[in-house]
Amino acid sequence: MVIQKTLVVIKPDAVKRRLVGQIVTRFEEKGFQLLELRLYLFSKETAEAFYDVHRERDFFRELVSFISSGKTVACILEGNDAVNVVRIMIGQTRSYEASPGTIRGDFGLGLTDNIIHASDTHESFIKESNVIFGSS
Ligand code: CMP
Repeated sequence: MVIQKTLVVIKPDAVKRRLVGQIVTRFEEKGFQLLELRLYLFSKETAEAFYDVHRERDFFRELVSFISSGKTVACILEGNDAVNVVRIMIGQTRSYEASPGTIRGDFGLGLTDNIIHASDTHESFIKESNVIFGSS
């Protein structure tokens, strides 16, 4: 087991629905350490940089528009195998297919509005956290 860091972004749908406390609590109860937490409003430019890997996808415009539609909460979490464990905890991308017990499975039904994003690799964590927290 390797101690890793990962990034989660609680999306505008979940912030508007006042789910932030419940979601952060799940990560704390699991045993992750919260290294950073920031209320963050994406601009169109920072949203495009954050989701750069999806630039050519047909849902890119919708994604950028949604993630910048309201405040998000970004957290850097640290713990054993964080990238993988957090991805398991958030569940499938399509919330309507996500298993009960996962964050998307318990709180959402949407696809673009799917409650939460988590980095899928260490490289994504570095790129994505640099957009929100800078490289320092
Ligand atoms: P997220 O984990 O933030 O990563 C990319 C996001 O694109 C994804 O969650 C969804 O919110 C969004 N998205 C919208 N349409 C699709 C799609 N057809 N396939 C995958 N992701 C999509």
